[in-house]
Amino acid sequence: MSKTKKYLDEHKDKFLDELIELLKIPSVSTDASYAKDVRRAAEFVRDRLKDAGADKTEICETGGHPIVYGEKIIDPSWPTVLVYGHYDVQPADPLELWDSPPFEPVIKDGLIIARGSADDKGQMYMHVKAFETMMKTDSLSCNIKFIIEGEEEVGSDSLAPFMEKNKEKLAADVVLVSDTAMLSNDTPSITVGLRGLSYVEVEVTGPNRDLHSGIYGGAVANPINVLAKMITSLQDDKGRITIPGFYDKVAVVSDEERKKMNEAPFDEEEYKSDLDIKALKGEEGYTTLERASIRPTLDVNGIWGGYTAPGAKTVLPAKAHAKISMRLVPNQNSDEITELFKKYFESLAPDYVKVKVTPHHGGEPVVTPIDSAAYRAAEKAMEDTFGKKPIPMRGGGSIPIVALFEDILGVKTIMMGFGLDSNNIHSPNENYGLFNYYKGIETIPLFYKYFAQLSR
Ligand code: BES
Ligand code: MN
Ligand code: MN
Repeated sequence: MSKTKKYLDEHKDKFLDELIELLKIPSVSTDASYAKDVRRAAEFVRDRLKDAGADKTEICETGGHPIVYGEKIIDPSWPTVLVYGHYDVQPADPLELWDSPPFEPVIKDGLIIARGSADDKGQMYMHVKAFETMMKTDSLSCNIKFIIEGEEEVGSDSLAPFMEKNKEKLAADVVLVSDTAMLSNDTPSITVGLRGLSYVEVEVTGPNRDLHSGIYGGAVANPINVLAKMITSLQDDKGRITIPGFYDKVAVVSDEERKKMNEAPFDEEEYKSDLDIKALKGEEGYTTLERASIRPTLDVNGIWGGYTAPGAKTVLPAKAHAKISMRLVPNQNSDEITELFKKYFESLAPDYVKVKVTPHHGGEPVVTPIDSAAYRAAEKAMEDTFGKKPIPMRGGGSIPIVALFEDILGVKTIMMGFGLDSNNIHSPNENYGLFNYYKGIETIPLFYKYFAQLSR
């Protein structure tokens, strides 16, 4: 058995206890009332990096939540790996849908259940513990730098300027991230693409005040009805988005790549039964795996207006609102798509309403190479620990900072995630497998070993 595996086996309980301690900190980045907890999580990560053997650890102040930086430079001539992760989490609500409190982790059926267990504390912390393992067993064969941020779930606003200001400090040969999912525990995969994101909020205004729906109803347009109709017309019955120009820059994926993608073991019946739905719905001409990775989407994330409290109130509301996200694929650009949306949505507005479109944070799609030393190192590392060669897969989610690692630092990213789609990230009962946590800590040191070998 390798030294690192032995160290892991001897420290399994300690590694889990520490993660549980981190999961107890409610570091919800979007809600200002948790700002102190967010900082506590940052300090926890910094302290553990220090304990593990980093030469330098700091809390870097930003206009928002702090960034944790840590490094161990052994030999400047060795390859350098920049580890990225996030210690912030999504809000836990709706609380009533959790089987146990989100910030009181429990272990059930081999799963750690807590907000942030998979996204991304559990996955990020594997890197801290793999680092400790390599340090204590004297087997770290690369230089290592950590940037662990606290604003990923709110758009990473402080990280891009931080990177601009610290290009030299963050210089590396590759960025390593565990913040994505694998196909399954029996079918390891490496994420080689992410979708971008354009996110807008819309407001439709009708009359200048709420009206009695009996006195005015039928004579004055109802903004909620109008909004519903406008939203419906954003997609046709083939599941295609109707915004003019929306698909103009979408890169065509070759038949060969599509064929490969669809060879991945994927059971559509199981997928449906897991979600308790009879049928799937998506863009015509594409498979489920394709629809959720290489094709762009448009979804309403929230919609509100009028009376929603218990009981009935007859009202013709003055305003209606919705939050709409569009997942983007290469070579769409988030600012361009937001602009196309705004123009089209405004053009859909009938004379009897006014429309306001407000853009939120966005992000660009990425595709990462599979012929690099870093990809082969990740592939070999996973092959060793899973006994199977991982499949390259494009992911459907977004990590906007990944495109900026390339744009600002000129460094490509390896997304070696150990999560599963069933982890309920952003949802009640978020969970992360103990199997996955320990498998990650076992695999990461092998990545360093192979990356050092293959990049010589
Ligand atoms: N870790 C996720 C992204 C992810 C999850 C990618 C699973 C691939 C597979 C990340 O924390 C996240 O939630 N990103 C947001 C975007 C962000 C701008 C809020 C997303 O994808 O909605
Ligand atoms: Mn994440
Ligand atoms: Mn997330």
